[in-house]
Amino acid sequence: MERKGCLIIAIFICLFAFSSCRELKVKVNHEHHQQQQLATYNHTLARILVQYASAVYLSDLTELFTWTCSRCDGLIKDFEIIELVVDVKRCLQGFVGVSTDLNATVIAFRGTQERSIQNWVEDLYWKQLDINYPGVDDAMVHHGFYSAYHNTSLRPGVLSAVQKAKEIFGNTKIIVTGHSMGGAMAAFCGLDLRLTLGDHHVQVMTFGQPRIGNAAFATYYNQLVPNTIRVTNGHDIVPHLPPYYYYFPQKTYHHFPREVWLYNIGLGSLIYTVEKVCDGSGEDPTCSRSVSGNSISDHLAYYGVEMGCDTSSGCRIVMDPRVVSYGRTDLDGNFILSRDPSISILTLNANQSSSM
Ligand SMILES: *[C@@H]1O[C@H](CO)[C@@H](O)[C@H](O)[C@H]1NC(C)=O
Ligand SMILES: *[C@@H]1O[C@H](CO)[C@@H](O)[C@H](O)[C@H]1NC(C)=O
Ligand SMILES: *[C@@H]1O[C@H](CO)[C@@H](O)[C@H](O)[C@H]1NC(C)=O
Ligand SMILES: *[C@@H]1O[C@H](CO)[C@@H](O)[C@H](O)[C@H]1NC(C)=O
Repeated sequence: MERKGCLIIAIFICLFAFSSCRELKVKVNHEHHQQQQLATYNHTLARILVQYASAVYLSDLTELFTWTCSRCDGLIKDFEIIELVVDVKRCLQGFVGVSTDLNATVIAFRGTQERSIQNWVEDLYWKQLDINYPGVDDAMVHHGFYSAYHNTSLRPGVLSAVQKAKEIFGNTKIIVTGHSMGGAMAAFCGLDLRLTLGDHHVQVMTFGQPRIGNAAFATYYNQLVPNTIRVTNGHDIVPHLPPYYYYFPQKTYHHFPREVWLYNIGLGSLIYTVEKVCDGSGEDPTCSRSVSGNSISDHLAYYGVEMGCDTSSGCRIVMDPRVVSYGRTDLDGNFILSRDPSISILTLNANQSSSM
């Protein structure tokens, strides 16, 4: 008898615990759902944007400005540049233009190329979360990445070009992209555009991007720019850096969502790439974090497209004197090449090809 009573009590406890647990879980899921929006991955768009992120690395500014560079072809040939911004001292570069195919303003960034990629990657281990993201409690970011966009000629150049595109083409969608450190700058730019223009049509897609802030920053970022995809490739080391310490989730760097992880599976000579769309945490343990980040070569090719400079000379700037007339230079020697997209640059192209 006593035994039976115990059993009944035990069953009740179990049922109670189970139901309250379920209730709690449902509630959490529900809140999660309300707060978080996640981007939909579009493979076709990724294949297009990776080419912009590759083209922005080129250092022949004449070819970039006239959109005649070797990487300015194929899926992205239908593009007109409005502004090309170069920070000479820090070796940063970005462009803004309009794609008729995408019906969008496209912005692309490249990060520093001053030192070798190996040195740059080694430095990434030691990057501190050293400034507060303005206006957001507890949101910390890395000062170097933050200021590469916010405290250089890139930001004013980009904002004025976006304004110009708006005047000519109306309120088109804005897509921001970049690879590696350029991806970090693209993220800060996307967030900035959302904050300064109040524009709801900002979309960000980055490739092989390092972590840029902590968990509070990632949450804030995701609320403001939910339409963001962060593509990672195989064992690419850079998305693993600066390190994520899962036993200190509040104190460590933390990626924002949504990761899409590309990895190869092979059977004999048959190898194909899987594109895994990851969860909303930003740190999905079944995506790139499930493997060790030990590859630089996986960092330098996304979707088979070469990412990085075309020459070993690093930050070398080549510019045709005829293009200089489209530019203005600041006191530090940085310059902005700017044109009205409705004015044809065919004459410039013609002169360029006749001189070759
Ligand atoms: C994916 O992107 C391409 C290129 O912008 C677009 O044409 C296509 O409609 C998109 N697909 C979906 C399902 O949104
Ligand atoms: C911005 O850059 C200048 C020099 O380039 C530097 O003196 C200043 O401290 C920087 N400010 C911030 C907030 O990083
Ligand atoms: C381009 O985008 C704008 C703004 O989103 C929209 O009004 C327009 O209809 C689009 N044009 C085409 C051809 O899709
Ligand atoms: C192109 O070359 C022609 C003559 O060869 C010259 O008249 C014209 O000004 C040049 N255009 C530019 C943009 O330099």
